Amino acid sequence: MSFTPKDHYYKKAKEMGFKARSAFKLDEIEDKYHIFKGAHRFLDLGCSPGSWSQWILKRAESMGAQSCEVLGVDLTPVELGLKGFHFIQGDMRELNLNQVFESLGSLQRFDIVLSDMAPKTTGIKLTDQARSFELCEIALDTAQKWLKPSGHVVIKLFHSEEFSELKKRILLNYKRFEAFRPKSTRSMSKEIFLIGINKKG
Ligand SMILES: C[S@@+](CC[C@H](N)C(=O)[O-])C[C@H]1O[C@@H](n2cnc3c(N)ncnc32)[C@H](O)[C@@H]1O
Repeated sequence: MSFTPKDHYYKKAKEMGFKARSAFKLDEIEDKYHIFKGAHRFLDLGCSPGSWSQWILKRAESMGAQSCEVLGVDLTPVELGLKGFHFIQGDMRELNLNQVFESLGSLQRFDIVLSDMAPKTTGIKLTDQARSFELCEIALDTAQKWLKPSGHVVIKLFHSEEFSELKKRILLNYKRFEAFRPKSTRSMSKEIFLIGINKKG
């Protein structure tokens, strides 16, 4: 992910010191659904270059929140130099989080699981959609295991026919389902965010 077109969000991200314009998607999600209030432990899947983790930690700091922790996972390394940021380099299709958590101890349960994971696009629509769907399923499986009851998930999907299958699955395990396309999403992007609010206990 990089800053390409020098649009409004690109300029704003630069001014505010965010590594990518994606940070503003969380602003919009929070403005609409208020799911971040009171959350302290975050799992940020597909976190590179790091703007979502930056957004979470900067927001916590500005609100005087104590001990906010983010565990980021990505294929590519991320350096943020922010207190509370932990990082694992790995492929979520293969990573054994049980082993990882053994070494991290206290980070075992999360208030919020985020996934902005996106496959490298091939330009072949069905392939890209299928890969994105696979990453959504992995994020949902991970949340099923590691998200606290009453916690929330936010997961990116390249919109496809599988949308309704994922919606069904989220409604089974969360009290509320929302689908949201932020204004800050680029117009040519097919992304949509699936939101599960209040995981059933
Ligand atoms: C759109 S970017 C994320 C941007 C990030 N949320 C931010 O705000 O800086 C998508 C990321 O998903 C990561 N990704 C894709 N497949 C993955 C996988 N199987 N395991 C872990 N990360 C993956 C990519 O490496 C890429 O960095």
